[in-house]
Amino acid sequence: MRIAVGSDHAGFDLKRAMADHLTEAGHHIVDLGTDSSSVSVDYPVYGLAVAKAVASGEAERGLCVCGTGIGISIAANKVPGIRAALVHDGTTAGLARHHNDANVMCLGGRTVGLAEATDAADTFFAAEFDGGRHRRRIDEIARYESDRDRAPDSMLPVAGDDERQRLTR
Ligand code: RB5
Repeated sequence: MRIAVGSDHAGFDLKRAMADHLTEAGHHIVDLGTDSSSVSVDYPVYGLAVAKAVASGEAERGLCVCGTGIGISIAANKVPGIRAALVHDGTTAGLARHHNDANVMCLGGRTVGLAEATDAADTFFAAEFDGGRHRRRIDEIARYESDRDRAPDSMLPVAGDDERQRLTR
């Protein structure tokens, strides 16, 4: 799989470790920077670069790393078509694919250990989307993305309280 990777300085070491691991596992890595942990840079640049590579089809999936994974996931999610998930381990990485069809995985270089990150990456880049009821939810996000003036409430079907509770579960 062709995977775009990017990080700021705080995520650089973990990004490099993951890129090496994923290359050994047979993936093709496109590294969009940064290139060092010693020069402070801004995470939006790299999150947006990875997200745009995935959204354009240049890469099939993306991996983003900053100190916590929070800032870079917020940035990546601004690109239409991107579902960037901040994950912590194999469980959250698997669910991000199975339930959310996440196409970019984000990690915190200062918050996640190497073993958890490796487990997360192995799981994320192998797991498939479950579809079914999860497809409906992904489609709701995509519909909002294509018509941002639409209030989220108007996306809910007209329903009574019981039905509303069931639908929003
Ligand atoms: C950089 O110091 C840090 O703020 C950044 O890597 C990230 O954690 C932001 O969300």
